[in-house]
Amino acid sequence: MALSRRGFIKTLGGGGVVLAASGIGLTQCDRMPASAVEGWRGPGTDRTDPREWALAHALLAPNPHNLQPWIADLRTPGAVTLLVDPDKVLPETDPNGRQVLIGHGAFLELFDIAARELGYRSEITLFPKDAAPVDAPTAMLPDYPVARIAMVRDPNIERSPLFPHIFTRRSCKEPYDTERPLTAAHEAALRKTHTDQAIALSVARTGDLTARLRTLTRDAMMLEMQTPRTLKESIDVTRIGASEIERHRDGIDLHGPFFWWLKAAGLMTPEKAMTPGTMAHQGGIDYALGWAGATPSFGWIATAGNSRAAQISAGRAYVRLNLQATANGVAMHPVSQLLQEYPEMAALQRGFYEATGTPEGRTVQMLFRLGYAEVPPPSPRRPLDAILRT
Ligand SMILES: Cc1cc2nc3c(=O)[nH]c(=O)nc-3n(C[C@H](O)[C@H](O)[C@H](O)COP(=O)(O)O)c2cc1C
Repeated sequence: MALSRRGFIKTLGGGGVVLAASGIGLTQCDRMPASAVEGWRGPGTDRTDPREWALAHALLAPNPHNLQPWIADLRTPGAVTLLVDPDKVLPETDPNGRQVLIGHGAFLELFDIAARELGYRSEITLFPKDAAPVDAPTAMLPDYPVARIAMVRDPNIERSPLFPHIFTRRSCKEPYDTERPLTAAHEAALRKTHTDQAIALSVARTGDLTARLRTLTRDAMMLEMQTPRTLKESIDVTRIGASEIERHRDGIDLHGPFFWWLKAAGLMTPEKAMTPGTMAHQGGIDYALGWAGATPSFGWIATAGNSRAAQISAGRAYVRLNLQATANGVAMHPVSQLLQEYPEMAALQRGFYEATGTPEGRTVQMLFRLGYAEVPPPSPRRPLDAILRT
């Protein structure tokens, strides 16, 4: 779950909070701290080790709840060992770490694209010790290195046309223009980028299926919010206000005058967010209802089976699609609730598989909104040094 300003504005309605905020000169207050988003300006000139240069791009990858669940061990010269950070996982909504590994797949893809730009080939060995069993609990993932990457100079390596879009890629979590479904030309551009034949890409641009998916994604979001332990998991990683964001540089970030005011008034506490009937709880619901209704088109990618390697491939494919969407001015936003493996979600998930006609044995790894909206600002990232082991 992620929250945005607009849902809360709706909740506040004409209640005078906006006036109160601007009346006391807060319109400029509580901005995103520059340090939290400095990663989007690219690696500093001091990053002369090509591994660090590529990693500074990789950490801009999309990932669940923006916890950035990666550690890069550089202790072997010329190589990177990629590991799961045990403190950055979500065991309630991602009980087997499937989504964590999708995030790692996106990380590896951005690493590879960046390395090419520098004239290096990334030789990636997945799960150099062994892969975690696919039904292993999330907490076990840090025991299984995700990949060993060797960077090899290669004068013939092909640059990726997706490279420039790494810095402007976003997960756009806002309502989309309901009058503008994804165009056929933009669907074709996504399909052209999607070169992994082992992963099925499906797109519902218009029609009954999009209406069904709007209902299903909304119901799944509501279920997540009505299930106390899954709601709490999101609330625990929500950073409210510039100072909290600056301290963590991860998680779900809420800032600006509205949130500043709510927090100062004691209306935006974790306890309030857990309590139905409060403004903090209702704001989250209104946010979810807002985006679910304002989604003209959807896409999803599915793998045959659900191996750990398939999860990595799905992450790689997803971020390529996200970069291509960026290139075309298409907004994209993963909505994962329906795909999550906790028992309460099983019935809605079956409904989703039936609605999309996903054949037995396939696993939908990512479901995402598609459409057109204003490009949102970047989300925080921890500094490169925070993920390095040297
Ligand atoms: C496996 C996976 C699942 C995700 N699921 C959701 C989701 O359900 N809802 C959501 O708002 N964002 C979801 N996201 C997007 C992340 O929240 C987003 O990548 C993160 O906040 C960083 O923002 P950015 O992509 O704009 O850099 C998901 C991303 C990944 C990789």
